Amino acid sequence: MRFDPWDPDFVAYPYDVYDELRRESPVSYFEPTNQWLISRHADVNALLRDRRLGRSYLHVATHEEFGRPPEPESHEPFWRVIRAGMLDVEPPVHTRLRRLVSKAFTPRMVESLRPRVRAVAEGLVDAFVEKGGGDLIAEVAEPLPVTVIAEMLGIPEQDRHLLRPWSADICGMYELNPTPDAQHAAVRAASEFAGYLKTLAAQRRRTPGEDLVSALAAIEELTEDELVGTCVLLLNAGHEATVNVTGNGWWSLFRNPAELARLREDRSLLPTAVEELMRWDTPLQMFERWVLEDIEVHGVEIPRGSEVALLFGSANRDQAVFEEPDRLDVGRADNPHISFGAGIHFCLGAPLARIELMESFGALLARANKLELRQEPAWKPGYIIRGLESLEVSAAG
Ligand code: HEM
Repeated sequence: MRFDPWDPDFVAYPYDVYDELRRESPVSYFEPTNQWLISRHADVNALLRDRRLGRSYLHVATHEEFGRPPEPESHEPFWRVIRAGMLDVEPPVHTRLRRLVSKAFTPRMVESLRPRVRAVAEGLVDAFVEKGGGDLIAEVAEPLPVTVIAEMLGIPEQDRHLLRPWSADICGMYELNPTPDAQHAAVRAASEFAGYLKTLAAQRRRTPGEDLVSALAAIEELTEDELVGTCVLLLNAGHEATVNVTGNGWWSLFRNPAELARLREDRSLLPTAVEELMRWDTPLQMFERWVLEDIEVHGVEIPRGSEVALLFGSANRDQAVFEEPDRLDVGRADNPHISFGAGIHFCLGAPLARIELMESFGALLARANKLELRQEPAWKPGYIIRGLESLEVSAAG
């Protein structure tokens, strides 16, 4: 097998290919996407922190100067939303936006949400066990982070069903070489989402609540686009990967029954288990960076204007960093996985994600003495955002 992000077999198990890349060609050019693949942990980690690269180049160059085609005008509503959030900008705009939002995500602030996260997790798990199981992704993995981030922002309950489809369509644009249909769906979702948030923010400006949309709407230095971009980013980033870590994580445990039994017996292993599940089957397989100034990696010159693809899933299985990297070890103590990124864009929501995962895995282990897989799950086609379609299990208390 070769690196082929459109091949379902590769998406299902990319790790042998990664192993070969790390050993034989840690920097390799991938023609179909015109990107340089970077597969070793040390290089991924270093490039994420290297200021000669950026998530965007538009603060230093035009599309033309970077040899990239102009964006279709019809995509403007999408990029307007995405480029107004901190994830797709670089300093100094990034520094300003991140500073404004980070107060809501300090470990202390987030810790105060734990009782609520626990209550939601326990409610979902109880209902799931009572009906003997079902699709663990749709019934537990998804509603938990969606509820938590929606409550934080103050999205009314009757509107929350809109979030998942909007987010899924927007994320379609992040896959490699998206189809015209996927692009169209992403643009439409971004416009609808933006329209919805503008109306909500206007309401909260008139009658503020205790929520994050009200708090952001009260900040004068935040433009309306930045407010919308920030809320879309928080709502999407605030659940997509957590859903996939939960689904992928349980599938990993089912494939490693001895480790599942070990965790059941000793739930004090939960903190290391959650980190290990994020490492072993990485939910976000790749992140891209633009090369803003010429760089050289292992003797390969990568000129300004190129794009590098940092293979997180590969970095997380690097034998130079992890002992027996292909073994799932829920007690792994030394685990510098890269799943939350590194450098200035390091995941703002990491403390919240950790709490959600601990509470959801913890509630399932405590309240479902028996959890059994009903059928082998299928992977969704996406490679960058990698998760299962569903996870059918039977559950008993
Ligand atoms: C297990 C779940 C999660 C994983 C694996 C994850 C992973 C990541 C990664 C890898 C990045 C950096 C991307 C890059 O450098 O290009 C990132 C950024 C970000 N994440 Fe998460 N994330 C998770 C959950 C969350 C949650 C719950 C939130 C809550 C709001 C969140 C909010 C953000 C934000 C706002 C950024 C942008 C930070 C910046 O640009 O400075 N994430 N996340």
